[in-house]
Amino acid sequence: MVGRIAVIGSGYVGGVVAAGFALVGHDVTVVERERARLAQLRSGVAPFREPGLDPLLASGLASGRLRFTDELGSGLEGVDVVFVCVGTPPGADGRPDMSAMATVADGLSAHLSAHQIVVTKSTVPIGTGRWLRAQIEENRGADGPGRWPVRVVSNPEFLREGHAVEDFLHPDRIVLGSDDAAALQRVVELYEPITAQAIPGDNSQRGPVPLLLTDLATAEMTKYASNAFLAMKISFANEIAHLCELVGADVGAVVDGVGLDVRIGRPFLDAGLGWGGSCLGKDLSALVGTAVEFGYHPALLEAALQVNEHQRQLVVDELLHQLRSLRGARIAVLGLAFKPGTDDVRDAPGVDVAGRLAGRGAFVAVYDPLVTSLDSLDGVRFADDPYAAARGADAVVLATDWPELAALDLYELARAMRGDLLFDGRNLFDPAKVRAAGLRYLGVGRPAVGVERPSPLPLMPLATTQ
Ligand SMILES: NC(=O)c1ccc[n+]([C@@H]2O[C@H](COP(=O)([O-])OP(=O)(O)OC[C@H]3O[C@@H](n4cnc5c(N)ncnc54)[C@H](O)[C@@H]3O)[C@@H](O)[C@H]2O)c1
Repeated sequence: MVGRIAVIGSGYVGGVVAAGFALVGHDVTVVERERARLAQLRSGVAPFREPGLDPLLASGLASGRLRFTDELGSGLEGVDVVFVCVGTPPGADGRPDMSAMATVADGLSAHLSAHQIVVTKSTVPIGTGRWLRAQIEENRGADGPGRWPVRVVSNPEFLREGHAVEDFLHPDRIVLGSDDAAALQRVVELYEPITAQAIPGDNSQRGPVPLLLTDLATAEMTKYASNAFLAMKISFANEIAHLCELVGADVGAVVDGVGLDVRIGRPFLDAGLGWGGSCLGKDLSALVGTAVEFGYHPALLEAALQVNEHQRQLVVDELLHQLRSLRGARIAVLGLAFKPGTDDVRDAPGVDVAGRLAGRGAFVAVYDPLVTSLDSLDGVRFADDPYAAARGADAVVLATDWPELAALDLYELARAMRGDLLFDGRNLFDPAKVRAAGLRYLGVGRPAVGVERPSPLPLMPLATTQ
């Protein structure tokens, strides 16, 4: 059945959800408050880099099934289901900033009709669905004439930036939660083309997508629990990486061996500068905040956050040790996006490390294939290519594992530099090849090549039982 949908917010999630639903046959109106973003979307161009999204926007516009507006009132006209996809960035205290959500609640209070279902797709603290329902009912005047209950469904989104279109159309699972069975069923119907994998133009013949139906709080919790687990995997790999350095083992081979266990799996076990981006850190902090509110101390989750923070400082400490002083040192940081395939720099390790180094008095030059300027990196030089960034550098830090950077000509890099130190923050390069090009190599959890690390802790003899 064709649905009439409104999508509020057109960022990485809303933009993809809107174009994806239009592709599978629904009629979609996007409500976006940023005018510049709106103008770009109306011309069929995504305001951010997301592979496959531009053609999807263009086909949605051409089919007449995709429209854009900045007015919530007109955007909701004739609509059955409203997907809320606004941002929930981290606030100053680490908990999510819910101001965009509050604005949406106010807007919906004024414009929502009784038959319309509100679906929260933004990642929101557990209890938000219930709060949204109460908030709209309260604003509307709960005791007024024609009172009706607001119908809310939670539908957390699991897409990955850089693969967002693919992930939305071919998800691992779809989670829907509500205390209103009829509302839940309506959203199940909207997803039918996706759960049945009947996607126009796709002949890959994949099986049906698992659909999990539950209550509001459980759906909200599922999103946080997923991201918390992924974050813990990365921090676990980084803890093991430190132990590898101490005992002279190679973390890459260790996690290959660990990841082949089907109970564990290899993804998200890579040691390095840790995670970045708009989701893992924010969602983990939010979950810690929720736990603390309930008087529970979530030791594992807090440790995962601390290890991640430590990974970023580690680069600064290692460079300080090797170069003696960072003041006046020339350092190139290659890679600013939080991962390859995106221009998103939210909580990106490369940006953080460049800022920390500049803050210690280093002259920092940066290069990223997609990120070519950044207000937050004041005083940092942006170069047009990695070799220009490395010109005259004492050390180079690899912060994002872009394929383009993996294919660097290490000899040319060495020629461009003044010094000879390469800190490989993603364990991207073969240390022997780096050494052959005349550079000294430092990775994360791998034996250093041509570099003296601070002396490892003495190994304790195994305790023997009498
Ligand atoms: N980015 C991801 O990979 C990802 C993955 C899964 C879930 N999420 C979650 O989805 C949500 C959205 O994430 P995002 O990355 O798309 O955020 P984003 O910041 O890229 O986009 C949010 C959009 O909402 C718009 N907006 C804010 N308030 C509005 C209002 N009142 N009316 C209309 N538009 C409004 C903003 O202008 C912006 O375009 C967040 O809660 C995030 O945690 C993100």
